Amino acid sequence: MILLTGGAGYIGSHTCVELLEANYEIVIADNLSNSDIESINRIEKITGKRPVFYELDLLDQEKLNRVFEENQIEAVIHFGGLKAVGESVEEPLQYYQNNLTGTLNLLEVMKNHGVKNLVFSSSATVYGEPASVPIRESFPLSATNPYGRTKLMIEEILTDIAKANSEWSISMLRYFNPVGAHVSGLIGEDPSGIPNNLFPFITQVAIGARSMLNIFGDDYPTIDGTGVRDYIHVMDLASGHLKALEKNLYSTGIDAYNLGTGIGYSVLQMVRAFEEVNHVKIPYRVTARRPGDIAECYADARKANKELNWYASRGLNNMCSDAWNWQVKNPSGYKTKVYS
Ligand code: WQD
Repeated sequence: MILLTGGAGYIGSHTCVELLEANYEIVIADNLSNSDIESINRIEKITGKRPVFYELDLLDQEKLNRVFEENQIEAVIHFGGLKAVGESVEEPLQYYQNNLTGTLNLLEVMKNHGVKNLVFSSSATVYGEPASVPIRESFPLSATNPYGRTKLMIEEILTDIAKANSEWSISMLRYFNPVGAHVSGLIGEDPSGIPNNLFPFITQVAIGARSMLNIFGDDYPTIDGTGVRDYIHVMDLASGHLKALEKNLYSTGIDAYNLGTGIGYSVLQMVRAFEEVNHVKIPYRVTARRPGDIAECYADARKANKELNWYASRGLNNMCSDAWNWQVKNPSGYKTKVYS
């Protein structure tokens, strides 16, 4: 069985669907601090299979140990952790406790049960302010905020473990900007409160939940002055996890992979694409730059293409239409009642 920590979350739930449809048996462990049990019901609705679910916090090592006692876990995909950059600047200790101690607990329990196969949810944030784009895995790593620092520290912890014991198989997946939703519109991104990220903000403006998009600066050295990012469909991200898991199953050692499309789009390009694809209007105004933002960030994904035989297959149109389909069907996210 495959354990997904944080499996009820945005990327976790989409990866659950991908694994279930590839006939893996999965166990989800999630503390539901940034996700909803309803996503498990939706995973079952999509796949016809209900994953085993444990509501637990990775800081509760005893409860986590019981998951391994009660299930034949052969590999782990580790999504569980806090991930808001701004919040991490205000609450660094909460981020170190949650993300580092939670991960150390998981690794300890894995070791005690002889489980040495791990896919780790890392982030392009570990590249800090890249000297150039597109970004390759060999680029220098640095952190510009506590969230990114926890990702970097965990990558270093995993590297030391792999050095100490060559039997471990570890893939560290550096996500660029995940967007979109499963084509059914039953699962999707459901941020609590005001969305930090661009895409959920756009969909909430489009549905009338928010009046206006603030574009954080249009004076960057980019195609139109607004920030450029590598947006990747969440289902492409999910398939990347399946490929990394399969690579781990037939090889040992540790490696990092960029999961991006290799194409950068600016904020204005994303707004225009969303309006065109979904025939909606997104009112916006340009405001000051957001502290910590960088001008451009997009991936060189050739290593994952070659070594994982993984390719992002969904383009901007799918990202825009699938994100909108989820939002329209779930105006209040998972709190929206879905009548079968
Ligand atoms: C994208 C672009 C903003 C909101 C973050 C994390 C990263 C990863 C993905 C976890 C930027 C602009 C945004 C808005 C805007 N998360 N923007 N108005 O900052 O690239 O990456 O999310 O792994 O770690 O750092 O994503 O969606 O916040 O911003 O103009 O209301 O949209 O300036 O250019 P980001 P984002």
